[in-house]
Amino acid sequence: MHSNIESHLIEKRVFRPPKDFAKKARIKSLDQYRRMYRESINRPAKFWAREARELVWRAPWKKVVEWKAPFAKWFGGGKLNLSENCLDRHLTSARRNKAAILWEGEPGDKRTLTYQQLHHEVCRFANVLKRHKIGKGDRVIIYLPTIPEAAIAMLACARIGAVHSVVFGGFSADSIRDRIADSGAVAVITADGGYRRGAIVPLKKNVDDALREKTSVKCVIVFRRTGNETHMEEGRDVWWHGELEYVDANCPPALLDSEHPLYILYTSGSTGKPKGILHTTGGYLVGIYSTMKYVFDVRDEDIFWCTADVGWVTGHSYVVYGPLANGATTLMYEGAPNWPEPDRFWKIVQEYRVNILYTAPTAIRAFIRWGDQWVAKHDLSSLRLLGTVGEPINPEAWIWYHKKIGGGRCPIVDTWWQTETGTILITPLPGAIPTKPGSATLPFFGVDAAIVDEKGSEVGANVGGKLIIRRPWPAMLRTIYGDKERYKKQYWSEFPGNYLTGDGARRDEDGYFWIVGRIDDVLNVAGHRLGTSEIESALVSHAGVAEAAVVGRPDEMKGQGVVAFVTLKGGVKPTFGLKEELRNHVGAHIGAIAKPDEVRFAEALPKTRSGKIMRRLLKEIASGATVTGDTTTLEDFSVLTTLRESEE
Ligand code: WT7
Repeated sequence: MHSNIESHLIEKRVFRPPKDFAKKARIKSLDQYRRMYRESINRPAKFWAREARELVWRAPWKKVVEWKAPFAKWFGGGKLNLSENCLDRHLTSARRNKAAILWEGEPGDKRTLTYQQLHHEVCRFANVLKRHKIGKGDRVIIYLPTIPEAAIAMLACARIGAVHSVVFGGFSADSIRDRIADSGAVAVITADGGYRRGAIVPLKKNVDDALREKTSVKCVIVFRRTGNETHMEEGRDVWWHGELEYVDANCPPALLDSEHPLYILYTSGSTGKPKGILHTTGGYLVGIYSTMKYVFDVRDEDIFWCTADVGWVTGHSYVVYGPLANGATTLMYEGAPNWPEPDRFWKIVQEYRVNILYTAPTAIRAFIRWGDQWVAKHDLSSLRLLGTVGEPINPEAWIWYHKKIGGGRCPIVDTWWQTETGTILITPLPGAIPTKPGSATLPFFGVDAAIVDEKGSEVGANVGGKLIIRRPWPAMLRTIYGDKERYKKQYWSEFPGNYLTGDGARRDEDGYFWIVGRIDDVLNVAGHRLGTSEIESALVSHAGVAEAAVVGRPDEMKGQGVVAFVTLKGGVKPTFGLKEELRNHVGAHIGAIAKPDEVRFAEALPKTRSGKIMRRLLKEIASGATVTGDTTTLEDFSVLTTLRESEE
């Protein structure tokens, strides 16, 4: 096909960092990158100590890294506070009066918080938490829209040493309940509602549903965002603004160990139960500080906009902590990219004169579809650097982003990382590393990434294999909350001592990494991770369902779409209405993003003689391809024919 040939040609293109960009950048050439990279690998302690010294420590660390595989300690013995590094540290210079957060709500309301003001709000809210007897080590669920209060709540937790777990506002009551149960949270911070495509998402109502049965939660703090009618449970629920009446703004930062837990963020794995990824304080801070500085080459005068929701790791690391640790100005936008019209992002870029834009391939593909006229209406000349994250970016989308958004002058950093990695691990440095559309290029400092075969031997150039990381890095996850064994098994057992990413990749002749995507039973839908078995358990929890198998299929917009094959219990009719009901059932159990794009009823699922569902066959059927692979282990061959016929 013509388009394939074209994309193949485009992939060969190399974009060198523009000269004037490189001249001003911290890392100015490939040589300089290589020198620093070598140092970071040969003498990691020296490299990371130098980075860490740019931050505020209340007691010095004894050892930069202690590695007893698979458990790492970074800056052990050191004491610090993350909120002090993000706030107080900037109050002694002119940064004090600089915008820390520029915020725009979906309806168009705006707020600016200077570093001084943000500090004030964080201290007051930290005192509210203390007033409710929330302290060091206590887990707190944050279920808020992308509003300044999300950052304030996170930083307030960090200030007193409470461990936050942000739950994405698109997740359902069931998801909140599961996360409360797993983390043993004592409090929930939420809002009456949030805006999404002009409608109000009833956040507090979802929390009420999650708390219907007894849980560990003792108090719910509610921010008034939308003003919709909201039930307040006597003795449990309090208003954010009401609580502020009782506190002052005097709240010294708690002195915390470098390895003190900072947050738990739940993400999907290949089993039905989401994993609570645990990040700690010192290493995480050094990691986000350093990646923000080198990958985005952020400057004091920049306006940095990462479009992620605070509910995802990107929101943690590059909406809140990374920019603030660097004293940068971070822009937050609450709503949808196409509300009220498909030019909302470009309107924001123009109005705020955004300099660095960090977004997702799925959004870029949507913009392409909505049409260039929405982009052309706006002046995007303030942009100087672009970034992407979340999934592989197809070269066509990369080129469009480069030309139409970047005006051909902005480098693009295609950053590869994961909830578990905490920070960007494979990425171009914009002034130093030539880019190739579709490649995340080379490893960041200190990152020893490799591609190996089934046996763990490194493969040669352009041979596909599993992406692993061969040594610890500062912001790595420390464990799966409450499940050390799963942590060991999931990430460190296949190639002992090496971190298994779950992604397939290849390296080209220049050593550039090309990430292919997940090789486990994890889907990447619009840049968000969903476990197939999680969706399957949701389906099977419906009274009419006997068995379910969920697979991904290529989707032009979302990267992957979700297809569910379902067998029904005896006597249940396979109607169109039931398909809708099942989609909504999944939506209610997990969240709208997990709703299958298609539900197919089947008489039976293809299984091996040992009873294992042959997903490979289902994947081929779901994507409309003919089944080509080996089917000799299939127990009942007629199943395939009927499955294919189940297509509408
Ligand atoms: C998975 C991690 C890190 C924040 C967003 C997602 C995929 C991420 C890239 C990229 C190709 C990418 C991987 C990874 N991914 N960035 N630049 N190129 N693939 O975080 O939900 O933890 O998902 O997203 O498959 O394993 P996450």
